[in-house]
Amino acid sequence: MGLVSAKEMMEKARDGKYAVGQFNINNLEWTKAILQTAQEQSSPVILGVSEGAGKYMTGFRTVAAMVAAMIDEMKITVPVALHLDHGTYDGCYKCIKAGFSSIMFDGSHLPIDENIAKTTELVHVCSKLGLSLEAEVGAIGGEEDGVIARGECADPEECKKIADLGVTMLAAGIGNIHGVYPPDWEGLSFETLEAVKAKVGDMPLVLHGGTGIPTDQVQKAISMGVAKVNVNTECQITFSAATRKYIEEGKDRVGKGFDPRKLLAPGFQAIKDTVKEKMEIFGSVGKA
Ligand code: 13P
Repeated sequence: MGLVSAKEMMEKARDGKYAVGQFNINNLEWTKAILQTAQEQSSPVILGVSEGAGKYMTGFRTVAAMVAAMIDEMKITVPVALHLDHGTYDGCYKCIKAGFSSIMFDGSHLPIDENIAKTTELVHVCSKLGLSLEAEVGAIGGEEDGVIARGECADPEECKKIADLGVTMLAAGIGNIHGVYPPDWEGLSFETLEAVKAKVGDMPLVLHGGTGIPTDQVQKAISMGVAKVNVNTECQITFSAATRKYIEEGKDRVGKGFDPRKLLAPGFQAIKDTVKEKMEIFGSVGKA
């Protein structure tokens, strides 16, 4: 199966009360680890690509070509969506052209009227091309790709305005933040989630900042309408820790230990373990 839009995945997850994981990719090893795990767990999966990661991998066309070829070469049969994460208006069009199957337009920092105008345009473009579209209301706090925003809770009325435009899924800030949560973090705002859900009805909701949210809170959010959970930092942490351990143990200096394929193997396995654990928590195992 080639790349698919996230629409059907989202509808099935919402109806089945589980969530599909979006795992961000940074290079070939991460992509391979995530695809392999999804296939082994028989789970649908969304590969997230930030604009920074796209640039790092030399451009969105490279990413789309690599992912499409890997799905083919690895004989991946579970549904896979290739999704732009926190896209700018220009970034959205670049990814559409490059062959992504799903787009996030992050207009959360724009005045609501401008967010609505640009999202409306992208709804038309994406629906014509059969792509899924995620929109955001209420900036997600924390830092991602150098963009820092304070934690926010979305205004349910604004969520309804954006949901009614016909997007596929909606990211609404509910006190979640990107990166590691500070020790004094107050947890997710379930009152906000409930109020948003009451306004947007069946719209699948997206929970960003999936690293470090206690399992019971993630699962409660899923039971209340979250159908997609994004994870990035946790893979970065486990990947770096495993690589550091390999080097600290001096294995990179023994035999062929310095071979990049060997050097990256513990980090590769760490990503697989993290993705598997998350898929189990999100309930997407066996749902492909
Ligand atoms: P974390 O980096 O906190 O896991 O969040 C990822 C994310 O929300 C990507 O959009």
